[in-house]
Amino acid sequence: MGIHYQQENRVFTLNTTHTTYQMKVDAFGFLLHLYYGGKISGSMDYLLTYCDRGFSGNPFDAGGDRAYSLDVLPQEYPALGTGDYRNSALVIRNGDASECCDLRYISHRIYKGKYKLKGLPAVYASEEDAETLEILLGDSVSGVQVKLLYGVLEEEDIITRSAEISNCGKEGIVVEKAASACLDFVTGDLDLLSFWGRHVMERNLQRREIAHGSFAIGSRRGTSSHQYNPAVILAGKNTTEEHGGCYGLLFVYSGNFMCEAEKDQFGQTRVLMGLQSDLFHYSLERGETLVVPETILGYTDKGLGQLSVQFHRCIMRHICRGRFRDLPRPVLLNSWEAAYFDFDGDTIHRLAKEAASLGIDMVVMDDGWFGKREDDNSGLGDWQVNERKLGCSLKELIEKVNGCGVKFGIWIEPEMVSEDSVLYQEHPDWALGIPGRKPVRSRNQLVLDFSREDVRESVFAAICGVLDQGNIEYVKWDMNRSISDVYSMRDQQGKVAYDYVLGVYDFLEKLTRRYPDMLIEGCSGGGGRFDAGMLYYTPQIWCSDNTDALDRIRIQYGTSFLYPISAVGAHVSAVPNHQTGRGVSLGTRAVVAMAGAFGYELDPGKLTDEEKEEIRGQVRQYKKYQELIRKGDYYRLSDPFREAYAAWQFTSENAEWVLLCVVMLEAHGNMPVTYVRLRGLREDMVYEETHSGKRYYGSALMEAGLPMPMEQGEYRAWQMELVAKGQDSCLR
Ligand code: GLA
Repeated sequence: MGIHYQQENRVFTLNTTHTTYQMKVDAFGFLLHLYYGGKISGSMDYLLTYCDRGFSGNPFDAGGDRAYSLDVLPQEYPALGTGDYRNSALVIRNGDASECCDLRYISHRIYKGKYKLKGLPAVYASEEDAETLEILLGDSVSGVQVKLLYGVLEEEDIITRSAEISNCGKEGIVVEKAASACLDFVTGDLDLLSFWGRHVMERNLQRREIAHGSFAIGSRRGTSSHQYNPAVILAGKNTTEEHGGCYGLLFVYSGNFMCEAEKDQFGQTRVLMGLQSDLFHYSLERGETLVVPETILGYTDKGLGQLSVQFHRCIMRHICRGRFRDLPRPVLLNSWEAAYFDFDGDTIHRLAKEAASLGIDMVVMDDGWFGKREDDNSGLGDWQVNERKLGCSLKELIEKVNGCGVKFGIWIEPEMVSEDSVLYQEHPDWALGIPGRKPVRSRNQLVLDFSREDVRESVFAAICGVLDQGNIEYVKWDMNRSISDVYSMRDQQGKVAYDYVLGVYDFLEKLTRRYPDMLIEGCSGGGGRFDAGMLYYTPQIWCSDNTDALDRIRIQYGTSFLYPISAVGAHVSAVPNHQTGRGVSLGTRAVVAMAGAFGYELDPGKLTDEEKEEIRGQVRQYKKYQELIRKGDYYRLSDPFREAYAAWQFTSENAEWVLLCVVMLEAHGNMPVTYVRLRGLREDMVYEETHSGKRYYGSALMEAGLPMPMEQGEYRAWQMELVAKGQDSCLR
């Protein structure tokens, strides 16, 4: 049993295999946070200290007790207006315009299984694998009630948090800010690791001390964004990949978010993860409820590598769904960097023939097959096949592709409309816009109001009309701009940004139900919506529009802290690379792309016979290791931002099969030797490196490492397979 309630002192304890989370209802009914970290026994309420602090007020109920202040005490769900002046998890504007919500304990419920969230993606688990705690809090004056939800996945060392905010009072209220998780630490210095970026350069790691003041990351772009990923890690000062305590907070949401980290006047730390408060004023009439998206929490004392393993497993087993969750993914050949908009049916057919000869499973027809879409200035919204351009019907084209023994996939961008489109001419009011103002354009396209069901239904019907035309086995769902003009013809109550995201989820839910066998890959100009919310519907996401192998190493490195390798769409593209102009060998490009759901994004017709032969070998190589890559534990063995080489490792769960991947990032004269230390092996096991036949102890590979070959040339790369051969006796 993961959840315990101790009646005498009203303490809730949430236990996973290696962690404990604890909180308590105190004498005044406030829900105070006691502890989150490595597993402990007993009640941690001795950590609470009381002291008369100047300018930290006392709740009326405390009577003359000047030592009791919510400004100082650690809390589970701090709301504005109660005398806590730190960042709030909740801000409510009441019917009388006051901003106050005084939440006190009402009741709780513990049950088997994991709670669900209406309209939102969330971690799921069987009744055996999870337990739920619901704590109901209420403000007696306004009638606002907050149901705090805690999910405990004992074996995964994962705890989830969410909140449902209900207006059970008489007057309408507005939710101005709502988080799903608050972590208060009464002691300790923590670093905040966050993942910033930009289009084609996503998820760079930044590590900074949480200092006095408040540091926030977030998105106002309508999507989770390229700029800040909705996830952070809190780590001790000395925490490394292999050692030390660290916490992860991962928001399961694809829209505007905010994460705030603050060190207060007494050196206490508060971290909040939740909805972005800008562009959000969510009005709730009597009887209405707002569901705050979930935050996944993880803790380990074994360093960042172990935290990643926990998050990867949670996402692979409890977020991703559908048939492809557990299936090897097809190796793709995507038409985008092969032909951009310049293709016809023959081009796609030719790519299919090439794919067949290279052992590639699927051809994806990217942007440009519909409406009037010869470039990116027109046509979005007109989801009718451009048969004139293709020179045949979609059905015929798919049959030709399938006839080569190759599967067929297609690109769509359902949320968008071009002003130069039939859809926009007929329904200009379907695009988000502020009356009386001209919209902000981006890539010359506008955003459809997906908070409106009628808009979604019409687009859904059009898209299904295409998907029903033939044997389409894959869809790439794209979203190519940040949202602006956040206002809806439908309501003016500050709900659009949130309702839009729920609209996208609703559409995806219907799509996955109607096409349960179809693989959907998410995309937003590459990794602009790379989050756990999307992974609930699309088990893989195109990681970045940057296919340069060197840049990709760093993008994939940052991504790997939280998201599993199976989620990372990664392709080999042509050289010079279209984003950077850099030339990297075909072999190195493949080693990098094999750290993901693998494919190609080039025109094989432009390759030499030798290169084609090399690709055949690469596809064979990938297929050999595909399941190890997809399901194995992943370890980062170097920091490619600081070190001269990049190295990572895939390891089977029993640690008997290992794939080591190394790429040199620098070349110099008279180079020192690069030694790569492996991880997660069995110390007493002997491993054989398949290529050389050399044998090593697991302990040696982990303590001293393997020397890499001394080869001249830029960006050399190696993949080495190591297979366990038995206990130590076989090496003596
Ligand atoms: C986005 C995607 C690309 C490609 C183009 C098509 O940029 O990330 O992979 O699909 O759109 O317009």
